[in-house]
Amino acid sequence: MQYADITGWGKYTPPARLTNDDLATFIDTSDEWISSRTGIKERRISHINTAHMAALAGKQALARAGIDADDIDLIIVATCTPDNLVPNTASKVQQLLSTNNSACFDLSSACTGFIYALQNATAQIRMGMVKKALVIGAERMSWFVNWSVRDTAVLFGDGAGAVVLEATDIECGLLEAKLGCDSNAREILNIVNFGTDMDRYENPPGPLQIDFNGQDIFKRAVRSMGKATETVMANTNLAVSDVDLLVPHQANLRIIETLQHKLKLSDEQCMVNIQKYGNTSAATVPIALCEAVEQGKINPGNNIMSAAFGAGLTWGACYIKWGDRVTAVNDYTQQEQQCEQSAKELLSVAIKHCLQ
Ligand code: UT7
Repeated sequence: MQYADITGWGKYTPPARLTNDDLATFIDTSDEWISSRTGIKERRISHINTAHMAALAGKQALARAGIDADDIDLIIVATCTPDNLVPNTASKVQQLLSTNNSACFDLSSACTGFIYALQNATAQIRMGMVKKALVIGAERMSWFVNWSVRDTAVLFGDGAGAVVLEATDIECGLLEAKLGCDSNAREILNIVNFGTDMDRYENPPGPLQIDFNGQDIFKRAVRSMGKATETVMANTNLAVSDVDLLVPHQANLRIIETLQHKLKLSDEQCMVNIQKYGNTSAATVPIALCEAVEQGKINPGNNIMSAAFGAGLTWGACYIKWGDRVTAVNDYTQQEQQCEQSAKELLSVAIKHCLQ
């Protein structure tokens, strides 16, 4: 039996920070409201596109795994903010990694996308179909934001996270997952005026934007992530005390805390970084996983639980038995970190259009 060990981890968090106070200069909001309702203090605004962020996170994960991009058989990019619909973002990532040897596809399951992708790549490795995979969650959410709509504009940010998976005989990596979708609620969270659903000619589309019913999503998120996590823990006979770390989707601190309390986990057992990045959709889980390793919160053999929910409404949870690798083989310095413009300067055209 083959398993899929996580041997590399990487992230790209764009340098330009948009603080709550920055937002309050052009939307009717406040640091007090955003902090107390969501836990978010700032988010990153990217000066480069989704594929570019994904490739930078991927390069770091590959370096840390000590693997050449040519050795990767499969690249999956979980994203709902692709550079283009055709060709896919994963092919651009392959090009940016200067290799040509891998199958490449994008996976669209919004914020649950990374867990879906991790399960898919793990299954392919466990079936013996591929040996090494690069699994990335990358999003440029700022591109979709309508900066005049305060309930959504304050929530989202840009970024990317990645892991390298390698086939091994040792029992580790993703060992159990429970994924699902509550399609009855697919209308409560969507990006409007995009896709073949719209009438291009008779009724030209209105502005692109994220639409949602925040309170309904909140309730369903807690319910679905909680149920999925409990199912995975029951299927793997894991008790609360066995869980070393929960790495949840970072959409709202209150959602994370409700899940944490429902599962009776301590603060030390729960990874939180939403205050720095906001909701980066499919990128929250791999960025948080990467930071957890960087901060020494993950040790060899640890039991890691992850859970997420997103548009669809997709949901999922998984159990990862961490392998031996917690220190990087090599490191990679991301030269592209430099950006001369502030977050507000990067967004100035978008803000002007939205506020007209
Ligand atoms: O990954 C999936 C993406 N979506 C989510 O994760 C969303 C999940 N839902 C949430 O996180 C929360 O529902 C929100 C953070 C979106 C909203 O929090 P809430 O506690 O449910 O607030 P609310 O929608 O009930 O709004 C309360 C008040 C309203 O004013 P009134 O009607 O009570 O006068 C809103 O107009 O807060 C107002 N409000 C704001 N005020 C200042 C809404 N957004 C803002 C804002 N700044 N940014």
